[in-house]
Amino acid sequence: MFVGNDVVDLTNPRTEGRGSDERFVGRVFDADEQAAIRAAGASDLELWSRWAAKEAGFKAISKALGAPPAFVHRSFKVAWTESRDAAEGVVRVGTVRYYDHVARVTVEVWPGSVHAVAECPERVGEDVHIERRVATLENPGSRWAGPLEELRRALTEREADAVYSRESAAVRIGARADLAERLGVNEQRLEIVCAPGPASQRPPRVLLDGQDAPADVSLSHDGRWIAWAIWVDRSQEARQ
Ligand SMILES: CC(C)(COP(=O)(O)OP(=O)(O)OC[C@H]1O[C@@H](n2cnc3c(N)ncnc32)[C@H](O)[C@@H]1OP(=O)(O)O)[C@@H](O)C(=O)NCCC(=O)NCCS
Repeated sequence: MFVGNDVVDLTNPRTEGRGSDERFVGRVFDADEQAAIRAAGASDLELWSRWAAKEAGFKAISKALGAPPAFVHRSFKVAWTESRDAAEGVVRVGTVRYYDHVARVTVEVWPGSVHAVAECPERVGEDVHIERRVATLENPGSRWAGPLEELRRALTEREADAVYSRESAAVRIGARADLAERLGVNEQRLEIVCAPGPASQRPPRVLLDGQDAPADVSLSHDGRWIAWAIWVDRSQEARQ
């Protein structure tokens, strides 16, 4: 199972009014998606839900392919199978299609953020549960409170190798603690590492005692938010 996730900070003024920015919409979305955004009244919520779905889908599909393809947003096509704008929250469920590759995606809209989680199951019809979390970066008392240098010290050398900002350190600390809980192992046995590559373009993977863990993780950060998604292979639990 490969997971992807993406959070968009809706409190950033750059997210406002983009639904009616024809040039932007034309560059990022294909004809069907553009029509859906128009039908939704050029809604920013519809636009950022689709944007986040594409980014989450790109991350999950990158891992399923074994190497990230060039990320052209228009080539990652989003279609909803379910769209609920209920009082208790906005939810979209659907797919992200990249040529022959399809990821399932679920988008949740919260006050101030849009969060998409995508999954590419290795086996068709696989029933999975993915944990998702959106948290504020500035969160006094959290595991990730503190300056960058302090956060770096909470990471192993190879984890810290991919870190280039407080956000990127914070999200790793939050996700690793969550993974330890889900896997039922001591956090010190876990690492979230990335293969060498350009900053922010390095897919993460989870190691347990230095070996591939029966789990996958996806990281995202935008403005005041950090977010992650975690999948744990329950069939491996007995082996821990
Ligand atoms: C993945 C990408 C879309 C993330 O962009 P973003 O929205 O700015 O950043 P997010 O915070 O949501 O996600 C970043 C996290 O995604 C993860 N990530 C990066 N590349 C990934 C990939 N290919 N697959 C899975 N996860 C990936 C990393 O954990 C990263 O965390 P880090 O920045 O702390 O290391 C972007 O960095 C990227 O790789 N773009 C592709 C560039 C490209 O193909 N250009 C060609 C254009 S033609």
